[in-house]
Amino acid sequence: MVLDGTSPRPASRDALWWQSAVVYQVYPRSFADSDGDGIGDLRGVLAHLDHIAGLGIDVVWLSPVCRSPQADNGYDISDYQDIDPLFGTLADLDALIEAVHERGMRLIMDLVVNHTSDEHPWFVESRRGHLGGKSDWYFWRDARPGSVPGEPGAEPNNWGAAFAGSAWEWCPDRNQYYLHLFSAKQPDLNWENAEVREAVFAMMNWWLDRGVDGFRMDVINFISKDPALPDGEVTATGYGDGMPYFSYGPRVHAYLAEMRRRVFEPRPGTYLTVGEMPGVTPQQAREFTDSKRGQLDMVFQFEHVSLDHDGDKWTQRTVSVNDLRDTLGRWQEALAEEGWNSLYWNNHDQPRVVSRFGDDEGCWFGSATALAIVLHLHRGTPYVYQGEELGMTNAVFDDVTDFRDIESLDYYEQTVVRNQGDPAAALAVLRRKSRDNARTPMQWTSGPGAGFTAGTPWIRVNPNHVWLNAADQRSDPGSVYHLYRQLIGLRHSEPAVARGDFALLDVGNEHVYAFRRRLGSREIRVVANLSAADGTFGRDGLELDQVLLGNRPARERETDRLAPWEARVYLVGT
Ligand code: GLC
Repeated sequence: MVLDGTSPRPASRDALWWQSAVVYQVYPRSFADSDGDGIGDLRGVLAHLDHIAGLGIDVVWLSPVCRSPQADNGYDISDYQDIDPLFGTLADLDALIEAVHERGMRLIMDLVVNHTSDEHPWFVESRRGHLGGKSDWYFWRDARPGSVPGEPGAEPNNWGAAFAGSAWEWCPDRNQYYLHLFSAKQPDLNWENAEVREAVFAMMNWWLDRGVDGFRMDVINFISKDPALPDGEVTATGYGDGMPYFSYGPRVHAYLAEMRRRVFEPRPGTYLTVGEMPGVTPQQAREFTDSKRGQLDMVFQFEHVSLDHDGDKWTQRTVSVNDLRDTLGRWQEALAEEGWNSLYWNNHDQPRVVSRFGDDEGCWFGSATALAIVLHLHRGTPYVYQGEELGMTNAVFDDVTDFRDIESLDYYEQTVVRNQGDPAAALAVLRRKSRDNARTPMQWTSGPGAGFTAGTPWIRVNPNHVWLNAADQRSDPGSVYHLYRQLIGLRHSEPAVARGDFALLDVGNEHVYAFRRRLGSREIRVVANLSAADGTFGRDGLELDQVLLGNRPARERETDRLAPWEARVYLVGT
């Protein structure tokens, strides 16, 4: 058993090894259940590592497995240095780290330190009041002067929480409010307090000593708040928008620089750090990922996954090929010289891409693979979310009782129960937008429970596992899975994919998303019809027989016409 980080990490080729890497996200609760309790666990991950390694993956990102009351499926941690019994033990995690390393891969953990659980001992101590040593570890404020504490409107400011309601919770024990940007079970840590930062850095060091290879940092741009905590502009929710005061706070760079000094700099070896940053702009992302500052290797931006939001995430907006190209193209350009992009369609918070930007009914295979080809051949580090490599689709829930996610349930409560909205309409919105779309169990086989569990799954299995599953796809060379393998292989074998520059082509084409990657005399050209209509593309000197890969039979490739959702990758030059 490895307790001290002696499990050898894969040797790093260079400090920027992650520029040619592909990351696979495991959401343990929904990945594989080894003990029949209906909830995925670490031994389940261990048992299926070869599926991930077989894809050619370099890094596994494990969503939170630490001790947690599970109010937000583990993004509410009550002990950073222990594993929740739902998922297993520290020994299981050590075994997983070792098995990941044995396969030449690395493992990064989810670092959730903007907030803790309200059941974390730090908060339990803090809420006791002013005498406790940790009284200042969270944001505590008095009620507004002249108001009745605990009554609506008495909150210290008007910010709304991310899920629903006010961002402040009244705490009678302490006769004060505490701030929670997410649920009331997730109080925000006060990073202004140096002891808080030290405790976080010590915990990070403990994990790195244990053998993990870096972190995906949850909403890490929220850790510095404008100390005045001013009211925000009131939105349709009736609450103020606090984002301008906490999404890029005055000390966020200072905190990340300190983290680098206290955690990463003193260590030999190379790690991967990726910061989740809602609301981050390309300019800010460049600052965070500028190699001279060395704060983070890359960030997750949210612009392309907000294109189908109209004002708020629940209101649908139709997304065009031009929208996608404008957004992704702008990010490519902004981080071309300095900084680095992460590339993703999916994660545990986003609906499935084939159902969202593709066509899971009319052209499931074509759209799943065309979207994969487009994403994976951009410049940046691609992330594959479990099941994406199979083209897994949104859930098909027919009742609100099928949903599990705190955000979805809060939305339903707010719109239907409190505001007497139409239940059928709310359900239709959740079917399209709920985070649970990403959280249905991984579809391993066509058998009962999709091979995910021998028990009753914590959330319903998608019935399409009878034809959409890993076992069938691994043995079918023409499957979505094998297309992902090819794309990942291409990133490893073709330097123009990993490090080449990027330029959009055929800008304005309403159907075809086209671009080129170039490194020296090597050029890769991608043409992808992201629509249900036929498309054409500008040949611009292209020899049409030099197709590296595509998602339609080779005999159809020698034309500049693309069938609906057809995508091809050409090699130009030598
Ligand atoms: C991040 C996580 C999300 C979680 C939230 C609060 O956005 O990805 O799942 O609910 O932070 O921790």
